[in-house]
Amino acid sequence: MVSRGSHNLYTSRFHTRKLSPSIITFYTILIFGFSIFVFFFYVRNTIIDEDQPHPLLSQQSLSHQVPELPMYDEKLWDPPFSHGLHQCVKPTARYKGAQGVDRYLTVRSNGGLNQMRTGISDMVAVAHIMNATLVIPQLDKRSFWQDSSVFSDIFDELHFIESLKGDIKIVRELPKNLEGAPRARKHFTSWAGVGYYEEVARLWNDYQVIHVAKSDSRLANNDLPLDIQRLRCRAMYQALRFSPPIEDLGKRLVDRLRSRWGRYIALHLRYEKDMLSFTGCAYGLTDAESEELRVLRESTNYWKVKKINATEQRIGGFCPLTPKEVGVFLLALGFPPSTPIYIAAGEIYGGNTHLSELSSRFPNLVFKEHLATPEELKAFTNHASQNAAVDYIISIESDVFVPSYSGNMARAVEGHRRFLGHRKTINPDRKGLVEIFDRLETGDLKEGEPLSHLVQQMHKNREGAPRKRQGSPPGIKGRARFRTEESFYEDPYPECICGSRSKLERT
Ligand SMILES: *[C@@H]1O[C@H](CO)[C@@H](O)[C@H](O)[C@H]1NC(C)=O
Ligand SMILES: *[C@@H]1O[C@H](CO)[C@@H](O)[C@H](O)[C@H]1NC(C)=O
Repeated sequence: MVSRGSHNLYTSRFHTRKLSPSIITFYTILIFGFSIFVFFFYVRNTIIDEDQPHPLLSQQSLSHQVPELPMYDEKLWDPPFSHGLHQCVKPTARYKGAQGVDRYLTVRSNGGLNQMRTGISDMVAVAHIMNATLVIPQLDKRSFWQDSSVFSDIFDELHFIESLKGDIKIVRELPKNLEGAPRARKHFTSWAGVGYYEEVARLWNDYQVIHVAKSDSRLANNDLPLDIQRLRCRAMYQALRFSPPIEDLGKRLVDRLRSRWGRYIALHLRYEKDMLSFTGCAYGLTDAESEELRVLRESTNYWKVKKINATEQRIGGFCPLTPKEVGVFLLALGFPPSTPIYIAAGEIYGGNTHLSELSSRFPNLVFKEHLATPEELKAFTNHASQNAAVDYIISIESDVFVPSYSGNMARAVEGHRRFLGHRKTINPDRKGLVEIFDRLETGDLKEGEPLSHLVQQMHKNREGAPRKRQGSPPGIKGRARFRTEESFYEDPYPECICGSRSKLERT
């Protein structure tokens, strides 16, 4: 706008003064140059203005020196167009904090790191609805991960309490005089709405302490008041910061990755024993391996489904991509073999036997052990959740995030990246890809151009561009609807991501 205005102003003067052609040319060039200068100045300011106030981001965006990549398609690394959308988590004018004096909610969270994080964020909202004081939740020590960490090992406890001060009261422990008091022990119903918790709040007439046995999926994804949804976002994206040792290590590793490799993909390679066993996915495994996984599945109590047809799982798109499939997929998208790929995962099942099918295609696989010293990692060994937290940070900060399976971590990271300004997340269409991989295997399709074309078309709209959270697929009725809706934390749009009209609400 500015440049066009100044252009017109100057050209009108030329006509009145009748200058020689060479001077006109000189002025034209001068004006042209000035317009370009104004344009870039304007663009630059706009970009800086759009930066999100995430603590880690500030170091990231300016340090993209890529040493050696040739002219591969730059678009591969570009974030999707975000239409000027940005995070918005401020409460509305109607909102009131809940003080909840003398009523306490104690919580045992269950599951791995990300299941606990979303569960705890929901419990913050539930404590607000029920007007209760939240006692710092206990973490799960019995899940597959067997991690003995307590809340303050993983999260910044003080920050959690302080930053939610205006929303709910949080205390470290039950007051001494209530330790022996009778508690109502509740299994809250899954995907419940506000009405349910207002009903449950009647228990305060008889009890001062309510204990929640399980925290995952206790709150509906949709149809909750805007202020409750925003409170979930404040809890998840602002209050539940990791503990200082984890944040520090995460940042340090991101810095080392960037200075050594420049841009990188973070690959959540969910090719771990528990996941393969739980999903019954045996494709590409030896008989001995699938037998081991079957035995593990049948002996794990809290995995309910025991008999699984591996072929049907795979065809349905319910299996994590194998390391080989990930390699073929990323090459087909156009990523050059030199691309650095950070492996965000625990132990890869079968170790190098399976991993080599990825590293043969992408030799620059980067593991935590390559970036951190043994001393730095020592504090984290045998603490799966703390390791997962470091992976979470590195995944959030990556240029491109690719999950090989849509589990809790994949969903949480994808949602967080949307919240931070629609950073690129390439979500593999596993059902579609399996069809393609099978055609490759039968020779019906060739690697190279035809494969690339198919894979790229298939993923054009799966790059983390803004879109509203999806409801359940049509035709699904009753309570199954809640389970099949897209998770709130996978896409907190529209409640916590807003257009430019609500700019004032930006935090
Ligand atoms: C919350 O509880 C306190 C007492 O603990 C009460 O004074 C207040 O009115 C309650 N607020 C709501 C919104 O119910
Ligand atoms: C598993 O499912 C496939 C495809 O539906 C079928 O061909 C196969 O016989 C099934 N295997 C077993 C062991 O039931």
